[in-house]
Amino acid sequence: MAVLEVLTVPHPVLSKKCRPVGPGEFGEDLARFISDLAETMYAAPGVGLAAPQVGDLRRVVVVDPGNSTSEQDDDGRPTNPRFLALVNPQIIEASAEKMIYEEGCLSVPDFEENVTRPRKVHIRYLDESGKPHQKWFEGYDAIVVQHEMDHLDGVVILDRVSRLKKGRYLQKRQKVRVRADGTLEY
Ligand code: NI
Repeated sequence: MAVLEVLTVPHPVLSKKCRPVGPGEFGEDLARFISDLAETMYAAPGVGLAAPQVGDLRRVVVVDPGNSTSEQDDDGRPTNPRFLALVNPQIIEASAEKMIYEEGCLSVPDFEENVTRPRKVHIRYLDESGKPHQKWFEGYDAIVVQHEMDHLDGVVILDRVSRLKKGRYLQKRQKVRVRADGTLEY
């Protein structure tokens, strides 16, 4: 297990669309990557992490929305981590009912924004051994899963605010220009 470096905006990898994990890619290497991703999430600490946030363009996320309430050791890591790994996740149904939550992101430090999303989502995904699953997520769990899935399409919470607000944030962090179409100029 290893704690990986979490990339922050405006790193170009964070705006790339990730590729699906192929049938021949399940095995030791993927399992190791997933456990590293989970360890990085707990070390941050965070409640979810997507592969592109550590520079990997496979469609893989880990989530543990219960993290903040579980018991922690002296280093602040959960003593009994129960994360869920979702490989190639897809939303197959979403509730019409929405929910607004103030989201933050490890890749967008010192920034929070109210984001509106479906309150319930039915997700189809593969586990780390390639076995298919379907699961309903609701409330905060649904928010976390949808936020992480956005990363797989190169979308961060900064892309959900006005160009002005995005530009101000990025200028504060470093000298990067936002073009009229919302893309970044380095
Ligand atoms: Ni995020």
